[in-house]
Amino acid sequence: MRKIMLVFGTRPEAIKMAPLVIALKKREADFNTIVCVTGQHREMLDQVLDIFDIKPDYDLNIMQQGQDLYDITARVLIGMRDVLKECKPDIMLVHGDTTTSTAAALAAFYQQIPVGHVEAGLRTNNIYNPWPEEMNRQLTGRIATYNFAPTPLSEKNLKEEHAHGKIFVTGNTVIDALHMVVNKLKGNKLLADEQVKVLAKAGYDVGRLNEIVNSKSSISKFRRLVLITGHRRENFGEGFINMVTAIKDLSEKYPDVDFVYPMHLNPNVRKPIHDVFGENLQNLGNMFFIEPLQYLEFVYLMEKSHIVLTDSGGIQEEAPGLGKPVLVMRETTERPEALESGTVHLVGTDYNKIMNEVSTLLDDAEAYKKMSYAVNPYGDGKACERIINNLI
Ligand code: UD1
Ligand code: UDP
Repeated sequence: MRKIMLVFGTRPEAIKMAPLVIALKKREADFNTIVCVTGQHREMLDQVLDIFDIKPDYDLNIMQQGQDLYDITARVLIGMRDVLKECKPDIMLVHGDTTTSTAAALAAFYQQIPVGHVEAGLRTNNIYNPWPEEMNRQLTGRIATYNFAPTPLSEKNLKEEHAHGKIFVTGNTVIDALHMVVNKLKGNKLLADEQVKVLAKAGYDVGRLNEIVNSKSSISKFRRLVLITGHRRENFGEGFINMVTAIKDLSEKYPDVDFVYPMHLNPNVRKPIHDVFGENLQNLGNMFFIEPLQYLEFVYLMEKSHIVLTDSGGIQEEAPGLGKPVLVMRETTERPEALESGTVHLVGTDYNKIMNEVSTLLDDAEAYKKMSYAVNPYGDGKACERIINNLI
């Protein structure tokens, strides 16, 4: 029996590690599964732990309001030193590109504990975009003994860098998580009704939402929904102001379309929203700023949406699987697979580009059709099974 420790700390890592925790815990004969959360995120992490019913064995609880990269790195590194000394896992699994994952991987390396990197090998090769995530991911990849690459392209990236660890192509566990939630929602009217109530409570006008929920088509004459998220550090400042200004102008140009923005809790994300929309974000007609949603509610809303406008990594992977066109507010992406299939376009943080691409998708049914079909370049829902089979 091997002692395996999974370490994560932010919302997306938790969503993508949760199905792996659940699958490993089912293999009691092979693994003693330990969960350590760093608490790099607090509320947004706890939301995910609740949904998947995960109770961590260790919680470093490091989050401070307005933490910077030094704070996170130092607090995770020191915290993990002590946890690893006490727990002595045979192997540690980290995820993706956060500072939690890189600092935890380094802590394991200092005790010569082998690291498995889940979601390894994605690259932009521009170390400032996404920042600091591109370098985080490269550093974790250098340390890892096992690289779980989601796609053949990520495997190729690792091979070109001569990664010292073994490489396995597994698919992305985000699709495992998405399937779990979609299956839970499918055909469960009670649960769907509950999501509507939660969304109404979060600030989304229930009458308008019901029009979307009850419409059979997401095209033209029915009320449509543009779902928005944004949080990337490299977009802070001017980039964010451009994004939010474009969103404001779009909401005025299309009064029949709903623009729903569940806001990240980072104050740097909220400031430009207030700068552009003012202090009071209530009663803005068809523009809804709401609090971060539980994963279940968010997937429900994504499924009901017409277009997704985001700078998120995880959403770029999920939305194509649901057949939703995604406009990515980033200059570059480490997830080019869906760009190639045509369901994702990069719009950067350029005001005109955001205005034009959203307008085209709202006005031109043909252009919309071309971008809105389901593709699954990131996985088939069996990534956890493959990861576990390669760990045995
Ligand atoms: C982090 C990750 C990023 C990931 C993102 C997912 C790093 C460097 N960045 O960025 O890769 O895409 O998470 O969302 O690892 N906050 C709260 N409560 C929460 C979460 C955040 O109040 O539950 C606020 C705090 O003020 C915190 C700030 O948000 O200081 C920023 O959080 P942080 O984890 O430093 O950065 P993210 O932008 O969330
Ligand atoms: N998400 C969520 N609630 C929200 C917004 C996003 O549950 O209000 C989920 C989303 O479905 C995806 C993940 O959070 O799985 C993405 O997290 P985020 O955009 O914060 O991070 P990134 O993926 O960019 O690292």
